[in-house]
Amino acid sequence: MNPFKPTAGKMPPILIGRESVIRDFEEALNNGAGAPGRLMLISGQRGFGKTVMLTELGRIAKKHDWAVVSDTASDGLCERLVAALSSGGPRFGGATLNPSVGVGGMVSASLGSISISPNSTALTLREAIEAKLKRMPDGKGVLFTIDEAQAASEEDLVAVATAIQHVLRDEDMRDVPDARKHGVAFVFAALPSMIDEVLNNKVLTFLRRSQQRMLAEVPLADVRAAYVDVVRESGKHISQEDALAAARAAAGYPYMVQLVGYYMWQSAERRGSSLIERSDVERGADDAVLAFGEAVCAPIMDGLTPAQREFVKAVAADSPDPAAVADIARRCNRSSSWVSKYRASLIKEHVVEAAGKGYVRLSTPHMADYLRGSSW
Ligand SMILES: Nc1ncnc2c1ncn2[C@@H]1O[C@H](COP(=O)(O)OP(=O)(O)OP(=O)(O)O)[C@@H](O)[C@H]1O
Ligand SMILES: [Mg+2]
Repeated sequence: MNPFKPTAGKMPPILIGRESVIRDFEEALNNGAGAPGRLMLISGQRGFGKTVMLTELGRIAKKHDWAVVSDTASDGLCERLVAALSSGGPRFGGATLNPSVGVGGMVSASLGSISISPNSTALTLREAIEAKLKRMPDGKGVLFTIDEAQAASEEDLVAVATAIQHVLRDEDMRDVPDARKHGVAFVFAALPSMIDEVLNNKVLTFLRRSQQRMLAEVPLADVRAAYVDVVRESGKHISQEDALAAARAAAGYPYMVQLVGYYMWQSAERRGSSLIERSDVERGADDAVLAFGEAVCAPIMDGLTPAQREFVKAVAADSPDPAAVADIARRCNRSSSWVSKYRASLIKEHVVEAAGKGYVRLSTPHMADYLRGSSW
């Protein structure tokens, strides 16, 4: 069976280059309430491994006998968290609680000068978490993993923040040694754009204080070593040099690591060979770039406005060199204010990035190649 897993959210055969996040989280579970790693905001571009990180942290929490509740942010997040907590236990719901107990006062007291309407969801969530904790053994707790957190509504995030603060305080007030207190941990995964939002948002102070970890490219040497090991375990063989060539083609992009691996392995398999040769690596890399274009570049272009696309194509014309802002204006036949407007909007969405004064380049690898061969 092909050991590589180029599928969104699918655990790779080896999770490369993420040891420090995993270690921080595991230590936070062991270090008790208040450990910074119990509130984490993991950010990264599409295909950098946010979802599989959440899966891995959930696995670790379970290994430590914690309960794990996983969700993907969208409308109704808090209600779903409450439902997940309550399954097999007492039922909760807005109707059975008195909304006038409103936590509104506490929200504005603890989170600063905000006027979000009192929200019974926070209270319900708090009750549901506390009921769940009561059923947990001493010293254990609940981990929540929330994927695609950039899509969460501010209301849901405030409700979560309020619930966490009260649960932590109530737990603090319990008259038992720290080691026996129950814990809560929250790990959010989001696109990088959420970091700017959190930093500029007065309401989300709890996320500003969270431990923020940006998933970066995975190191070349680690990718090479992973290729050699994974291929060997699958019953095939690849030389160090060819594994390095494959790692170079993946350029540190976790999703590309799986794509290149998958297609080079497939190429050798189709020849009926247990040796992955240089030609397999080359074919694998070509197939991977095509698949990457369809899976990553196409959806990015799809999500842009026509003007943004025009800008991106003008940048791509110079790729792999950065494009001068003045050249973009000329190519698109637009004013410099048009250029600065779309430059700013595309930088915010991490589609292009600044490359020195007056220059920009595309943020996504292979985007220019993809655009050359496509009809955008
Ligand atoms: N550390 C890693 N080492 C090797 N492969 C990885 C690593 N992290 C993720 N992958 C692989 O990369 C691909 C994308 O992973 P994942 O779906 O978790 O990314 P993501 O950041 O959640 O993407 P999106 O923003 O599109 O949801 C998967 O095929 C996965 O197996
Ligand atoms: Mg994901």
